[in-house]
Amino acid sequence: MSVPYLPLTRPTIDEETINGVADVLRSGWITSGPKVKELEAALAAACGGRPVRVFNSGTCTMEIALRIAGIGPGHEVITTPLSWVATSNVILEVGARPVFVEIDPVTRNLDLARVEAAITPATRAILPVDLAGLPVDRDRLHALARARGLRVVEDAAQSFGSHWRGRRIGTFGDFVSFSFHPNKNITTIEGGALVLNDEREAKLAEQYRLQGVVRTGLDGMEVEVVGGKFNLTDVAARVGLGQLPHLETFNARRRELARAYFQLLDTPALRALGLELPPADFTQTNWHMFQVVLPEGRLTISRADVMAKMQAAGIGTGVHYPAIHLFAVYRRLGWKPGDFPIAERICRNILTLPLFPAMTPADVERVVEQLAEILQAHRRT
Ligand SMILES: Cc1ncc(COP(=O)(O)O)c(C=O)c1O
Repeated sequence: MSVPYLPLTRPTIDEETINGVADVLRSGWITSGPKVKELEAALAAACGGRPVRVFNSGTCTMEIALRIAGIGPGHEVITTPLSWVATSNVILEVGARPVFVEIDPVTRNLDLARVEAAITPATRAILPVDLAGLPVDRDRLHALARARGLRVVEDAAQSFGSHWRGRRIGTFGDFVSFSFHPNKNITTIEGGALVLNDEREAKLAEQYRLQGVVRTGLDGMEVEVVGGKFNLTDVAARVGLGQLPHLETFNARRRELARAYFQLLDTPALRALGLELPPADFTQTNWHMFQVVLPEGRLTISRADVMAKMQAAGIGTGVHYPAIHLFAVYRRLGWKPGDFPIAERICRNILTLPLFPAMTPADVERVVEQLAEILQAHRRT
């Protein structure tokens, strides 16, 4: 009997949302309009009443936050080498310099203990990432930023619905950026949201979102900043409105599946092999991803071949992510192999396993059985 393909991730979109999208398509207003406003109001409510604006990605949100903070040429922004490359590309996009800092080997997030030493007179902001949804220590982050007069742009692309000490990410802090790409815990197909501090910043965000335009009355128009074309459509916003009410159930399901992964992967045999699991956190993270780190030097098989064997068994896996500072663009800026040994080792060996709300514990069993079989068959003796 052939088993169905198990992808790395898959969005869950209910029929009511699909019908709602059809209604928007029939309404005569399909680009940014009332659904965008409705989504912004719903997200603001989910973020403790802070101003929220939505955009067509969780990349431009960070770029716009940096622009609002006045960050540009001559400035430095501290960030992590282990993220989607968008995190540091936006720093280059505004003309500033990304300054990478080593990660913590357990959380796999920016090591805040090492950030202090990277601060120079040119530093203007810290841009940390909540990898896989696991939040960076917000107390320490904001205390450090306050003490050194720095802005914070939280790349919370992966941590919508995560918490820090009981407070939902987005309800506090400085700028908070979320992504609603289809692999995220809720989606708008493509899209993102930026949580801001006040109405002045929200107005500026609106200007950067759409060509810098400010309208007054029926025929007045002014342009004071150079904006882009980053607005979200009402079609996409309607998808987000249909997703938002499911966030807690989606995340609860992800937690349950993560628990199943721990039960099956935390065995003496796999521990002896040196397979690294993520922190077993069941209160703060939204379990955006479940990532293991393969034991370097203990296997006779490459990560790519592990992935190929999983694929041949009908199971999708992923790499999130290669080390950013080793991409050609960043090497040209002077970063090189050996700069961040912990991040580099993890980036070479990290493997994301399937995790999405429509999966079952039986799917988790299938993934672990397959992975364990491959690893045991290729252990170096
Ligand atoms: C950590 C991180 N930062 C930024 C982004 C960018 O989000 P988007 O794809 O919506 O532009 C992503 C999305 O993949 C991400 O995972």
